[in-house]
Amino acid sequence: MSKDFKKWFDDYSAIYDSFDEHLEEKNKNSKILFNHLNLGQNQKICDVGTGTGNSIIALQKLLNKNKIKGEYVGIDISDKMLKHLRAKSKEIHTICADMKYLPLISDCIDCQTFYFSIHLARNEDFDLTLRETSRVLRNGTGKIVIVTITPNSPFNQLRDHLKGKKRPVITEKFLIEKLKSIDLLVDFTTVVTNALYFKTIDNALDFFEKRGLSIKNREETADILKQYMRVTEEGIEIAVMDQIFIAFKQL
Ligand SMILES: C[S@@+](CC[C@H](N)C(=O)[O-])C[C@H]1O[C@@H](n2cnc3c(N)ncnc32)[C@H](O)[C@@H]1O
Repeated sequence: MSKDFKKWFDDYSAIYDSFDEHLEEKNKNSKILFNHLNLGQNQKICDVGTGTGNSIIALQKLLNKNKIKGEYVGIDISDKMLKHLRAKSKEIHTICADMKYLPLISDCIDCQTFYFSIHLARNEDFDLTLRETSRVLRNGTGKIVIVTITPNSPFNQLRDHLKGKKRPVITEKFLIEKLKSIDLLVDFTTVVTNALYFKTIDNALDFFEKRGLSIKNREETADILKQYMRVTEEGIEIAVMDQIFIAFKQL
C-alpha cells in the first residue's frame, strides 16, 4: 500500500504545488495552529506526510515571525516530494520514511501534525502509525494535530464523481475513537472552509486533466464541474472543502 503511494506521489510531485496556488488562503492553516496550540520556545514539531512542505514551512515562518524558535522535521515516503520542500526551505530537516516506522527516538516530539496524510494509512497501517506517533510524542505534554477534509465536502463528492468510484474517507468520530484507544483526548476542533479558484472553466478543466481525473470529453466533464461550482466576480469557485482540524492531547 505505502509503496503505491510512494510511486503516485513521486510522479505527482512536479505539479503538486499548483494545487495550493488555487486555494483562497494558504496560510490560514498555520494561523489556526498558532492561535490554538500555544507552542512555546524550542519545541520540536514534526509534520508527517509533509509532501512539498507548504504547511510546516508556513507554521515555521509564522512562529519565527513571533520570535518563537523551534526544531522542525518533515517526514514523507516520497523523496521527490521532499526535494521540493528542500528547494523552498533550509529550516526544515527532512526524513524520507514511512509514517508507520518513524526513525525518531521515543518521547521527543512536542507536536506531530498530519495534514491530509493520515487517511492514506489504512487498516493495520493506521493503527501502526498511531502507535508510532504515540511512541515518539513527548510524554504527558505532546500533542497531535490531524487535518482532513470532511467526508461530505463537495470536494470529495466531485473527486468521486470524476473518478467514478468512492474513495474511503475518515470521519471525526473514527479519529476520536481511535485516538482515545491510545489515551489521547480531543484538545480542540475547528473547521476551515476553502475551495479551488479559477479564472475560467477551461482553467479548471486543465487543472483536473493534469491530475488524471478522467477528462475523456471536456464538455461532459465541464457539465460535471458545473454541478460543484459557483460563479463569483473574480472567476469561479469550485469543489468547496471543509477542512477539519482536530488536535489531541494526552490524558
Ligand atoms: C495529500 S499529500 C499531503 C501533503 C502535505 N501534507 C500537504 O498538506 O500539502 C499526502 C502526502 O503523504 C505522503 N505519504 C503517503 N503515504 C505515506 C506513508 N506511508 N508514510 C509517509 N508519508 C506518506 C505522500 O507522499 C504525500 O506527500
